[in-house]
Amino acid sequence: MAPMSLRTYEEVRPYARAIKQRTHLRDRQGVMPPWMIEKNVGIQAFKNDPSLSEAELTAIADWVEAGAPLGNPGDMPKALAWKGDEAWTIGRPDVIIRSKDFSMKAAAPDWWGSFDSVPTGLTEDRYVAAYELREVNDARSQPQLIVGATTSANFSVVHHGTVQAIAPDGKTEPGGCCPTHEVGQNAHVFDPKVGKLLRAGSSLAFNSIHMHANGRDTTGHIEIGLRFHPKGYRPEYVATGVVVGTNNDLLDIPPGATGLKYDGTAVLQQNTKITVFEPHMHAAGVRFCLQAIYGTTTETLSCAGYDHNWVIAYTYADDVAPLLPKGTILRIVGYYDNTRANRNVVDSRNWSGGGHRSVDNMNQMLGQGIALSDEQFATAVAERRERGRLTGRTVFPGCPTCGGVDPTSPVAAR
Ligand code: HEM
Repeated sequence: MAPMSLRTYEEVRPYARAIKQRTHLRDRQGVMPPWMIEKNVGIQAFKNDPSLSEAELTAIADWVEAGAPLGNPGDMPKALAWKGDEAWTIGRPDVIIRSKDFSMKAAAPDWWGSFDSVPTGLTEDRYVAAYELREVNDARSQPQLIVGATTSANFSVVHHGTVQAIAPDGKTEPGGCCPTHEVGQNAHVFDPKVGKLLRAGSSLAFNSIHMHANGRDTTGHIEIGLRFHPKGYRPEYVATGVVVGTNNDLLDIPPGATGLKYDGTAVLQQNTKITVFEPHMHAAGVRFCLQAIYGTTTETLSCAGYDHNWVIAYTYADDVAPLLPKGTILRIVGYYDNTRANRNVVDSRNWSGGGHRSVDNMNQMLGQGIALSDEQFATAVAERRERGRLTGRTVFPGCPTCGGVDPTSPVAAR
């Protein structure tokens, strides 16, 4: 999907300066590889984190400054033999489901609708362990007819896709596969104790698809790759959405505005382990933070840059995923830049407000989590204390009760 491949020295060399520049954006819009978690605040361990370490960044900078030399060809690692599976970051899927073909004109209004549902072909009930959606299209081979019209994602036309499991009796499967896909999104690997049921004879419905023009006449389709838990697997926990948002009507982003922020809050109605932090904004968004408020304490769980080419789902590592008691207030803060410095804004002379088009704005956390009973919650906290060898009063990021004190008590306030 990238504009160039990085397989050989000859392919890489012309991009040396651009590689140094893009990789050193660190957590800001445009960074490569695409991953924008800020490393100086909040929880730091994630699944499938492709970001570069400071040592790797220094190595790239030193190499570029030295004139990007080839080095000793004898030290070159053997070229990778591509098997075709690498197109899927979840590994070889057990099942690949393909939508009907779609087409989008180079310059056309946004399109919302549904595609025909597709049978999964399953002959027995299975639980989904990982899910990946990818858009396959011919945009790269098409001439760019509208210069500068690449509002979000250079080649994508699928802004988002909601895919639902439909049981053989035609009913939507509650809590079934699959999370909403957003433009440029990575794969979803579910918590090992949460399986999403896909019944024998079920279908996948592509019931909320949003497409936008990308400046090229584009034809393509959606592919969904699913990996299953082993046969006989039984899930322990119930998956839940962790959604916090700002009312779209409040978003008011003047032409040329920068440093503008909006917040939103929600109270957790059940004990929750947050498994996925997923900022969702649109073109003007540049940064997004998630905080948890309990008692008198406000803790920043995660902050990330935002790039509407890459709406990334950040999956916390199992041992550090936020473990929050019911009643915790979740707060989101989204930052906007409606200037030419934001490459996703088409024309910064325009006012923009809330809305569903890619050029409108949103401010939402579309996270995922696990709902825990009081007993399950107490067990999870005790396990975490034991694993971390925590004794007495201590601070465990993202887990207010792991510290051995009720965070809402006057003692905790001191
Ligand atoms: C260390 C790893 C990576 C490096 C050094 C890198 C480098 C770059 C550079 C230098 C550009 C700008 C090219 C230009 O100026 O024309 C770029 C753009 C791009 N790359 Fe990467 N990349 C990396 C990983 C990835 C990965 C993992 C993906 C796909 C999942 C990807 C997809 C893209 C795409 C789609 C663009 C064009 C759109 C955009 O700028 O956001 N890259 N990359």
